[in-house]
Amino acid sequence: MKKLLLIGMFVIFLYPLVIVSQGIAAAAEPIKIGYLAPYVGVYAKNGKDLTDGFKLYLDEIGYKVAGREIVLITEDDEMKPEVGTTKARKLVEKDRVHMLAGIIHSGVAYAIKDYVNNNKMPLILTNAGAAKLTAQDKSPYIFRVSFVNGQQDLAGGWYAYAKLGIRKVLMMFPDYSAGHEKADGFKRGFKAMGGEIVAEIFPPLGTTDYGPYLAKVVDYAGKVDRVWMFFSGSDAVRSIVQYSEYGLKDKIKLFVIGDTVDETFISSQKDAALGVESYLHYTPTLDTPENKRFVKAYTDKYRNEPGQFSEQAYIGAKAIVKALEAIKGKVEDRDAFMKALRDVKFEAPQGPFRFDNNQNVVQNVYIRRVEKKGEKYVNTVFDMVPDVDQFWTPKK
Ligand code: PHB
Repeated sequence: MKKLLLIGMFVIFLYPLVIVSQGIAAAAEPIKIGYLAPYVGVYAKNGKDLTDGFKLYLDEIGYKVAGREIVLITEDDEMKPEVGTTKARKLVEKDRVHMLAGIIHSGVAYAIKDYVNNNKMPLILTNAGAAKLTAQDKSPYIFRVSFVNGQQDLAGGWYAYAKLGIRKVLMMFPDYSAGHEKADGFKRGFKAMGGEIVAEIFPPLGTTDYGPYLAKVVDYAGKVDRVWMFFSGSDAVRSIVQYSEYGLKDKIKLFVIGDTVDETFISSQKDAALGVESYLHYTPTLDTPENKRFVKAYTDKYRNEPGQFSEQAYIGAKAIVKALEAIKGKVEDRDAFMKALRDVKFEAPQGPFRFDNNQNVVQNVYIRRVEKKGEKYVNTVFDMVPDVDQFWTPKK
Protein backbone atom coordinates (compact mmCIF):
# COMPACT_ATOMS: atom_id res chain seq x y z
CA MET A 1 0.00 0.00 0.00
CA LYS A 2 2.77 2.39 1.02
CA LYS A 3 4.62 1.46 -2.19
CA LEU A 4 1.55 2.20 -4.31
CA LEU A 5 1.13 5.55 -2.59
CA LEU A 6 4.75 6.45 -3.34
CA ILE A 7 4.34 5.53 -7.01
CA GLY A 8 1.13 7.54 -7.18
CA MET A 9 2.84 10.58 -5.67
CA PHE A 10 5.71 10.27 -8.17
CA VAL A 11 3.28 10.20 -11.09
CA ILE A 12 1.28 13.15 -9.82
CA PHE A 13 4.07 15.45 -8.60
CA LEU A 14 7.47 14.46 -9.90
CA TYR A 15 6.91 13.00 -13.36
CA PRO A 16 5.60 16.30 -14.79
CA LEU A 17 8.74 17.94 -13.45
CA VAL A 18 10.92 15.41 -15.26
CA ILE A 19 9.06 16.12 -18.52
CA VAL A 20 9.36 19.90 -18.06
CA SER A 21 13.05 19.70 -17.26
CA GLN A 22 13.63 17.57 -20.35
CA GLY A 23 11.82 20.23 -22.37
CA ILE A 24 14.07 22.92 -20.92
CA ALA A 25 17.13 20.81 -21.71
CA ALA A 26 15.90 20.42 -25.31
CA ALA A 27 15.29 24.15 -25.66
CA ALA A 28 18.75 24.89 -24.33
CA GLU A 29 20.48 22.61 -26.83
CA PRO A 30 22.74 24.51 -29.19
CA ILE A 31 21.63 25.59 -32.64
CA LYS A 32 24.01 23.89 -35.06
CA ILE A 33 25.04 25.35 -38.41
CA GLY A 34 26.95 23.17 -40.89
CA TYR A 35 29.26 25.28 -43.05
CA LEU A 36 30.77 24.12 -46.33
CA ALA A 37 33.65 25.94 -48.01
CA PRO A 38 36.76 24.99 -49.97
CA TYR A 39 40.02 25.30 -48.03
CA VAL A 40 42.14 23.83 -50.84
CA GLY A 41 42.31 24.42 -54.59
CA VAL A 42 41.68 27.45 -56.80
CA TYR A 43 39.07 28.86 -54.41
CA ALA A 44 40.94 28.20 -51.13
CA LYS A 45 41.36 31.92 -50.42
CA ASN A 46 37.69 32.58 -51.19
CA GLY A 47 36.81 29.76 -48.77
CA LYS A 48 38.90 31.26 -45.98
CA ASP A 49 37.27 34.68 -46.42
CA LEU A 50 33.84 33.03 -46.59
CA THR A 51 34.48 31.44 -43.21
CA ASP A 52 36.10 34.48 -41.58
CA GLY A 53 33.18 36.75 -42.53
CA PHE A 54 30.61 34.29 -41.15
CA LYS A 55 32.53 33.88 -37.90
CA LEU A 56 32.91 37.64 -37.45
CA TYR A 57 29.14 38.08 -37.15
CA LEU A 58 28.79 35.13 -34.77
CA ASP A 59 31.60 36.59 -32.68
CA GLU A 60 29.81 39.92 -32.51
CA ILE A 61 26.74 38.25 -30.96
CA GLY A 62 28.81 35.98 -28.68
CA TYR A 63 27.64 32.85 -30.56
CA LYS A 64 24.23 33.20 -28.85
CA VAL A 65 20.69 33.88 -30.01
CA ALA A 66 17.46 33.86 -27.98
CA GLY A 67 19.27 32.22 -25.06
CA ARG A 68 20.64 29.36 -27.18
CA GLU A 69 24.25 28.78 -28.05
CA ILE A 70 25.22 28.66 -31.74
CA VAL A 71 27.70 25.99 -32.77
CA LEU A 72 29.38 26.31 -36.17
CA ILE A 73 30.75 23.13 -37.74
CA THR A 74 32.93 23.77 -40.81
CA GLU A 75 33.81 21.20 -43.45
CA ASP A 76 36.16 21.42 -46.45
CA ASP A 77 34.17 20.67 -49.63
CA GLU A 78 37.43 20.87 -51.63
CA MET A 79 35.27 22.54 -54.34
CA LYS A 80 34.41 19.02 -55.54
CA PRO A 81 30.74 18.06 -56.01
CA GLU A 82 31.16 14.52 -54.65
CA VAL A 83 33.14 15.68 -51.59
CA GLY A 84 30.56 18.41 -50.94
CA THR A 85 27.77 15.84 -51.01
CA THR A 86 29.57 13.51 -48.60
CA LYS A 87 30.31 16.40 -46.23
CA ALA A 88 26.72 17.65 -46.38
CA ARG A 89 25.52 14.15 -45.41
CA LYS A 90 28.00 14.01 -42.54
CA LEU A 91 26.87 17.40 -41.23
CA VAL A 92 23.19 16.49 -41.40
CA GLU A 93 23.23 12.83 -40.36
CA LYS A 94 26.11 12.68 -37.90
CA ASP A 95 26.38 16.21 -36.52
CA ARG A 96 22.60 16.76 -36.70
CA VAL A 97 22.91 20.37 -37.86
CA HIS A 98 19.75 22.49 -38.14
CA MET A 99 20.83 24.09 -41.42
CA LEU A 100 23.61 24.15 -44.00
CA ALA A 101 25.34 27.31 -45.24
CA GLY A 102 28.37 28.51 -47.22
CA ILE A 103 29.66 27.07 -50.56
CA ILE A 104 31.81 28.89 -53.12
CA HIS A 105 31.68 26.59 -56.17
CA SER A 106 28.38 26.29 -58.10
CA GLY A 107 29.10 22.64 -58.91
CA VAL A 108 28.94 21.79 -55.19
CA ALA A 109 25.67 23.70 -54.76
CA TYR A 110 24.08 21.92 -57.73
CA ALA A 111 25.33 18.56 -56.43
CA ILE A 112 23.69 18.85 -53.00
CA LYS A 113 20.38 20.30 -54.24
CA ASP A 114 18.45 16.99 -54.20
CA TYR A 115 19.88 15.94 -50.85
CA VAL A 116 18.82 19.25 -49.30
CA ASN A 117 15.31 19.02 -50.77
CA ASN A 118 14.78 15.37 -49.82
CA ASN A 119 15.85 16.10 -46.25
CA LYS A 120 13.98 19.41 -46.02
CA MET A 121 17.24 20.97 -44.86
CA PRO A 122 17.51 24.78 -45.11
CA LEU A 123 20.57 25.80 -47.19
CA ILE A 124 21.79 29.38 -47.09
CA LEU A 125 24.24 29.96 -49.94
CA THR A 126 26.78 32.66 -49.14
CA ASN A 127 28.51 32.58 -52.52
CA ALA A 128 27.76 29.88 -55.14
CA GLY A 129 25.71 31.66 -57.81
CA ALA A 130 24.30 28.44 -59.40
CA ALA A 131 21.59 30.25 -61.35
CA LYS A 132 18.90 27.57 -61.55
CA LEU A 133 18.69 27.12 -57.78
CA THR A 134 16.72 30.33 -57.31
CA ALA A 135 14.93 30.18 -60.68
CA GLN A 136 13.68 27.10 -62.58
CA ASP A 137 14.97 24.68 -59.88
CA LYS A 138 14.05 26.87 -56.92
CA SER A 139 13.19 25.25 -53.61
CA PRO A 140 11.63 26.51 -50.38
CA TYR A 141 14.78 25.24 -48.62
CA ILE A 142 17.34 27.16 -50.68
CA PHE A 143 18.24 30.80 -49.95
CA ARG A 144 21.04 32.91 -51.40
CA VAL A 145 22.52 36.07 -49.86
CA SER A 146 25.33 36.53 -52.42
CA PHE A 147 24.16 36.80 -56.10
CA VAL A 148 22.90 34.69 -58.96
CA ASN A 149 25.58 34.13 -61.57
CA GLY A 150 24.45 36.57 -64.27
CA GLN A 151 22.61 38.93 -61.90
CA GLN A 152 25.23 41.66 -61.57
CA ASP A 153 26.27 40.94 -65.16
CA LEU A 154 22.87 42.00 -66.54
CA ALA A 155 23.52 45.44 -65.09
CA GLY A 156 27.22 45.29 -66.08
CA GLY A 157 26.37 44.49 -69.71
CA TRP A 158 23.86 47.31 -69.86
CA TYR A 159 26.31 49.74 -68.22
CA ALA A 160 29.09 48.82 -70.63
CA TYR A 161 26.98 49.82 -73.63
CA ALA A 162 24.89 52.64 -72.23
CA LYS A 163 27.43 54.47 -70.08
CA LEU A 164 30.91 53.43 -71.20
CA GLY A 165 30.18 53.44 -74.94
CA ILE A 166 31.49 49.89 -75.37
CA ARG A 167 30.20 48.22 -78.55
CA LYS A 168 32.37 45.14 -79.16
CA VAL A 169 33.58 42.72 -76.51
CA LEU A 170 35.73 39.60 -76.26
CA MET A 171 34.86 37.37 -73.30
CA MET A 172 37.14 35.17 -71.16
CA PHE A 173 35.90 32.94 -68.34
CA PRO A 174 36.49 29.52 -66.78
CA ASP A 175 34.76 26.63 -68.51
CA TYR A 176 32.24 25.53 -65.87
CA SER A 177 28.69 26.44 -64.86
CA ALA A 178 29.50 29.71 -63.07
CA GLY A 179 31.67 31.00 -65.95
CA HIS A 180 29.01 30.30 -68.56
CA GLU A 181 26.17 31.64 -66.40
CA LYS A 182 27.97 34.92 -65.68
CA ALA A 183 28.94 35.34 -69.33
CA ASP A 184 25.29 34.73 -70.33
CA GLY A 185 24.07 37.45 -67.98
CA PHE A 186 26.55 39.97 -69.40
CA LYS A 187 25.61 39.00 -72.96
CA ARG A 188 21.90 39.46 -72.26
CA GLY A 189 22.38 42.94 -70.79
CA PHE A 190 24.87 44.01 -73.47
CA LYS A 191 23.15 42.54 -76.53
CA ALA A 192 19.74 43.90 -75.52
CA MET A 193 21.28 47.34 -76.08
CA GLY A 194 22.84 46.38 -79.43
CA GLY A 195 26.31 45.32 -78.26
CA GLU A 196 28.24 42.63 -80.10
CA ILE A 197 30.15 39.69 -78.59
CA VAL A 198 33.00 39.12 -81.02
CA ALA A 199 34.60 36.05 -79.44
CA GLU A 200 34.50 33.84 -76.33
CA ILE A 201 37.49 32.04 -74.85
CA PHE A 202 36.96 29.67 -71.94
CA PRO A 203 40.04 27.97 -70.42
CA PRO A 204 39.51 25.23 -67.83
CA LEU A 205 39.01 26.24 -64.19
CA GLY A 206 42.42 26.16 -62.52
CA THR A 207 44.47 27.08 -65.62
CA THR A 208 47.99 28.04 -64.58
CA ASP A 209 49.33 29.23 -67.93
CA TYR A 210 46.98 31.60 -69.76
CA GLY A 211 49.64 32.16 -72.46
CA PRO A 212 48.01 30.08 -75.23
CA TYR A 213 44.67 31.83 -74.61
CA LEU A 214 46.18 35.33 -74.40
CA ALA A 215 48.00 34.68 -77.67
CA LYS A 216 44.54 34.46 -79.27
CA VAL A 217 43.38 37.66 -77.56
CA VAL A 218 46.29 39.61 -79.13
CA ASP A 219 44.69 39.06 -82.56
CA TYR A 220 41.66 41.07 -81.46
CA ALA A 221 43.56 44.28 -80.67
CA GLY A 222 41.85 47.08 -82.60
CA LYS A 223 38.85 44.84 -83.31
CA VAL A 224 37.15 44.94 -79.88
CA ASP A 225 36.63 47.79 -77.41
CA ARG A 226 37.16 45.70 -74.28
CA VAL A 227 37.94 42.27 -72.93
CA TRP A 228 35.36 41.12 -70.38
CA MET A 229 36.58 38.62 -67.79
CA PHE A 230 35.32 36.52 -64.94
CA PHE A 231 38.01 34.70 -63.01
CA SER A 232 38.17 34.11 -59.27
CA GLY A 233 40.55 32.69 -56.65
CA SER A 234 44.06 31.92 -57.87
CA ASP A 235 42.68 32.08 -61.46
CA ALA A 236 41.91 35.77 -60.89
CA VAL A 237 45.47 36.50 -59.78
CA ARG A 238 47.09 34.58 -62.66
CA SER A 239 44.80 35.86 -65.43
CA ILE A 240 45.19 39.53 -64.48
CA VAL A 241 48.96 39.29 -63.93
CA GLN A 242 49.53 37.38 -67.18
CA TYR A 243 47.24 39.73 -69.16
CA SER A 244 49.52 42.55 -68.11
CA GLU A 245 52.75 40.58 -68.69
CA TYR A 246 51.54 39.85 -72.22
CA GLY A 247 51.42 43.60 -72.83
CA LEU A 248 47.67 43.38 -73.42
CA LYS A 249 46.68 45.93 -70.78
CA ASP A 250 47.63 48.84 -73.03
CA LYS A 251 46.22 47.19 -76.16
CA ILE A 252 42.68 46.21 -75.04
CA LYS A 253 41.25 47.67 -71.81
CA LEU A 254 39.51 45.34 -69.38
CA PHE A 255 35.93 45.58 -68.11
CA VAL A 256 35.38 42.69 -65.71
CA ILE A 257 33.01 41.33 -63.09
CA GLY A 258 34.47 42.52 -59.80
CA ASP A 259 35.35 39.06 -58.45
CA THR A 260 38.33 39.20 -60.83
CA VAL A 261 39.82 42.20 -58.99
CA ASP A 262 38.24 41.64 -55.57
CA GLU A 263 40.16 42.96 -52.54
CA THR A 264 40.94 39.32 -51.76
CA PHE A 265 43.16 39.27 -54.86
CA ILE A 266 44.31 42.83 -55.75
CA SER A 267 47.06 42.86 -53.14
CA SER A 268 48.64 39.96 -55.12
CA GLN A 269 47.83 41.39 -58.58
CA LYS A 270 49.32 44.79 -57.68
CA ASP A 271 50.09 47.10 -60.65
CA ALA A 272 48.70 44.53 -63.11
CA ALA A 273 45.23 45.39 -61.75
CA LEU A 274 45.70 49.19 -61.80
CA GLY A 275 43.04 50.96 -63.86
CA VAL A 276 40.88 47.85 -64.36
CA GLU A 277 37.18 48.77 -64.40
CA SER A 278 34.61 46.41 -62.95
CA TYR A 279 31.15 46.00 -61.44
CA LEU A 280 30.22 44.25 -58.19
CA HIS A 281 27.76 44.36 -55.29
CA TYR A 282 30.42 45.13 -52.68
CA THR A 283 33.66 46.97 -52.12
CA PRO A 284 35.17 47.95 -48.75
CA THR A 285 35.57 51.59 -49.85
CA LEU A 286 31.78 52.19 -49.63
CA ASP A 287 31.25 55.30 -47.56
CA THR A 288 28.40 54.27 -45.22
CA PRO A 289 28.40 54.01 -41.41
CA GLU A 290 27.55 50.27 -41.48
CA ASN A 291 30.30 49.50 -43.97
CA LYS A 292 32.89 51.54 -42.08
CA ARG A 293 32.01 49.74 -38.86
CA PHE A 294 32.19 46.35 -40.61
CA VAL A 295 35.53 47.06 -42.33
CA LYS A 296 37.06 48.21 -39.03
CA ALA A 297 35.77 45.18 -37.09
CA TYR A 298 36.98 42.80 -39.82
CA THR A 299 40.38 44.45 -40.21
CA ASP A 300 40.93 44.59 -36.43
CA LYS A 301 40.21 40.87 -36.17
CA TYR A 302 41.89 39.46 -39.28
CA ARG A 303 44.50 42.14 -40.16
CA ASN A 304 43.37 42.30 -43.79
CA GLU A 305 40.50 44.05 -45.57
CA PRO A 306 37.25 42.27 -46.30
CA GLY A 307 36.33 41.54 -49.91
CA GLN A 308 33.06 40.30 -51.35
CA PHE A 309 33.29 36.77 -49.89
CA SER A 310 33.78 38.00 -46.33
CA GLU A 311 30.93 40.47 -46.63
CA GLN A 312 28.51 37.99 -48.23
CA ALA A 313 29.18 35.50 -45.45
CA TYR A 314 28.83 38.18 -42.77
CA ILE A 315 25.38 39.13 -44.04
CA GLY A 316 24.49 35.44 -44.39
CA ALA A 317 25.19 34.90 -40.70
CA LYS A 318 23.28 38.07 -39.85
CA ALA A 319 20.22 37.04 -41.91
CA ILE A 320 20.16 33.62 -40.20
CA VAL A 321 20.46 35.14 -36.73
CA LYS A 322 17.77 37.79 -37.42
CA ALA A 323 15.39 34.99 -38.49
CA LEU A 324 16.26 32.97 -35.38
CA GLU A 325 15.60 36.01 -33.20
CA ALA A 326 12.19 36.47 -34.83
CA ILE A 327 11.18 32.89 -33.93
CA LYS A 328 12.74 33.09 -30.44
CA GLY A 329 15.38 30.53 -31.29
CA LYS A 330 12.90 27.72 -32.08
CA VAL A 331 14.85 26.47 -35.08
CA GLU A 332 13.18 23.04 -34.83
CA ASP A 333 10.11 24.66 -36.41
CA ARG A 334 11.63 24.72 -39.90
CA ASP A 335 8.67 26.29 -41.62
CA ALA A 336 8.63 29.15 -39.12
CA PHE A 337 12.40 29.57 -39.53
CA MET A 338 12.18 29.73 -43.33
CA LYS A 339 9.25 32.13 -43.23
CA ALA A 340 11.16 34.40 -40.86
CA LEU A 341 14.25 34.21 -43.09
CA ARG A 342 12.24 35.24 -46.17
CA ASP A 343 11.13 38.39 -44.32
CA VAL A 344 14.56 39.47 -43.03
CA LYS A 345 15.62 43.01 -43.94
CA PHE A 346 18.51 45.08 -42.62
CA GLU A 347 21.18 47.59 -43.56
CA ALA A 348 24.19 45.55 -44.72
CA PRO A 349 27.73 46.82 -45.39
CA GLN A 350 26.90 46.61 -49.15
CA GLY A 351 23.58 48.49 -48.75
CA PRO A 352 19.97 47.53 -47.99
CA PHE A 353 19.50 43.75 -47.67
CA ARG A 354 16.35 41.84 -48.69
CA PHE A 355 15.31 38.72 -50.62
CA ASP A 356 13.24 38.62 -53.82
CA ASN A 357 10.29 36.20 -54.14
CA ASN A 358 12.69 33.41 -55.11
CA GLN A 359 14.76 33.76 -51.91
CA ASN A 360 17.65 35.44 -53.71
CA VAL A 361 19.22 38.74 -52.67
CA VAL A 362 18.36 42.07 -54.37
CA GLN A 363 21.38 44.38 -54.47
CA ASN A 364 23.10 47.52 -55.70
CA VAL A 365 25.78 47.00 -58.33
CA TYR A 366 28.74 49.35 -57.94
CA ILE A 367 30.92 50.41 -60.88
CA ARG A 368 34.56 50.69 -59.81
CA ARG A 369 38.14 51.29 -60.92
CA VAL A 370 41.31 49.91 -59.31
CA GLU A 371 43.49 52.73 -57.94
CA LYS A 372 46.52 52.91 -55.70
CA LYS A 373 46.14 54.87 -52.45
CA GLY A 374 49.53 55.04 -50.74
CA GLU A 375 50.74 51.45 -50.67
CA LYS A 376 47.22 50.03 -50.98
CA TYR A 377 45.26 48.95 -54.07
CA VAL A 378 41.58 49.85 -53.83
CA ASN A 379 38.41 49.64 -55.94
CA THR A 380 37.12 53.21 -56.14
CA VAL A 381 33.39 53.46 -56.88
CA PHE A 382 32.43 55.93 -59.61
CA ASP A 383 28.84 54.92 -60.30
CA MET A 384 26.05 52.58 -59.16
CA VAL A 385 23.08 50.67 -60.57
CA PRO A 386 20.54 50.36 -57.72
CA ASP A 387 18.19 47.50 -56.81
CA VAL A 388 19.36 44.79 -59.20
CA ASP A 389 17.59 41.44 -58.92
CA GLN A 390 18.19 38.25 -60.89
CA PHE A 391 15.63 39.23 -63.56
CA TRP A 392 16.76 42.86 -63.88
CA THR A 393 16.13 44.27 -67.34
CA PRO A 394 18.24 46.90 -69.04
CA LYS A 395 16.98 50.47 -68.98
CA LYS A 396 17.13 51.61 -72.61
C1 PHB B 1 30.52 29.99 -58.45
O1 PHB B 1 31.02 28.87 -58.70
O2 PHB B 1 29.30 30.19 -58.48
C2 PHB B 1 31.44 31.15 -58.16
C3 PHB B 1 32.75 30.93 -57.77
C4 PHB B 1 33.59 32.00 -57.51
C5 PHB B 1 33.11 33.29 -57.63
C6 PHB B 1 31.79 33.53 -58.01
C7 PHB B 1 30.94 32.46 -58.29
O3 PHB B 1 33.92 34.35 -57.40
